[in-house]
Amino acid sequence: MKKRVLSGIRATGKLHLGNYLGAVKGMLALQDDPGYETLFMVADLHSINSPYDPKTFQESVRSVVIDYLSAGLDPEKSTIFVQSHVPEHIELSYLFSSVLTVARMLHLPTYKDKLKEDAENANMAMLYYPVLMASDILIYKANEVPVGDDQLPHLEISREVARKMNEKFGTNFPEPTQFKTQGHSVPSLTGEGKMSKSVEGSFIALTDELETIRKKLASVPTDSGKGEKVPTEGGVATLLKFVELFMGAEKRQEYENAYVREGIRYSELKNALAESIYKELEPIQNKRKELESSPAFVNQVIKDGAEKAGAIAKETLVEVKEKMGLI
Ligand code: TYM
Repeated sequence: MKKRVLSGIRATGKLHLGNYLGAVKGMLALQDDPGYETLFMVADLHSINSPYDPKTFQESVRSVVIDYLSAGLDPEKSTIFVQSHVPEHIELSYLFSSVLTVARMLHLPTYKDKLKEDAENANMAMLYYPVLMASDILIYKANEVPVGDDQLPHLEISREVARKMNEKFGTNFPEPTQFKTQGHSVPSLTGEGKMSKSVEGSFIALTDELETIRKKLASVPTDSGKGEKVPTEGGVATLLKFVELFMGAEKRQEYENAYVREGIRYSELKNALAESIYKELEPIQNKRKELESSPAFVNQVIKDGAEKAGAIAKETLVEVKEKMGLI
């Protein structure tokens, strides 16, 4: 039997290189592997726990579907759907919440960070986030989850839920694991932390033009270009990581060698890098333009996706309700 794959991206703004390298590239690799059945969703329900605009929200949801299709997700091979179109996710998540303690949820780094940064908006949906995510994954009995490292604490909750449900109620949930890509942890352009939608100046969007990419790279902090040891953190480390991801490990080695010998000229590195990044994004941007003028096709993908995903989700939900004595 084929192994299942499930992943999702929130509809909270433009997709960036972190999303692309950490998640979408993994989705693409698994979609093209005949050993897997792949399901990819827009996590709209996971997007409403931070302030958002209901008026433009549908556009944001659609935009992620268009990003998926532009990047190469293929509705002939993958089920592409919107989370809230399969309401069984929510029902199952409530059942799961009975095997998780509030104390465990309060200890998750995402919630703790939110509490520190923006306590007023640390709502119940935020606390409940990993429970719903466990349901997203386990409702399809997915084995592999292509996500970046920031999602590992949430994935751990899914594994715990699977174990507890199996122990308590005799279900047969697999313990899902991360499908790790080369870009499983893409650093921020600021040189601090990871690339993130919520940090201005930290990201390159998939829709950025060459000039914008050039400008963004120009602002990455650097040093004199020369030293005894190649930096392992900060802006220079970020640039070298991008060189590795977009120009290859050999090119990175060349720059590293230059750093400890004659020195790096960052203007040259940044230019070459901007071009390499744009070369990868250009076909995605062209595909996006095409899809923006085919709304009927996009609608059909979303509708078919909900049907296909819904059929699997319904089956799991009935099975769990039976095991839990609810029917
Ligand atoms: P979201 O929308 O925050 O991020 C989408 C995906 O992008 C990855 N990512 C990164 N990877 C590497 N480096 C980075 N700098 C970087 N920034 C973001 C994230 O790890 C993620 O894979 N909770 C999820 C959405 C979700 C989901 C799910 C995922 C809901 N249910 C079930 C998988 C399975 C999220 O907030 O993603």
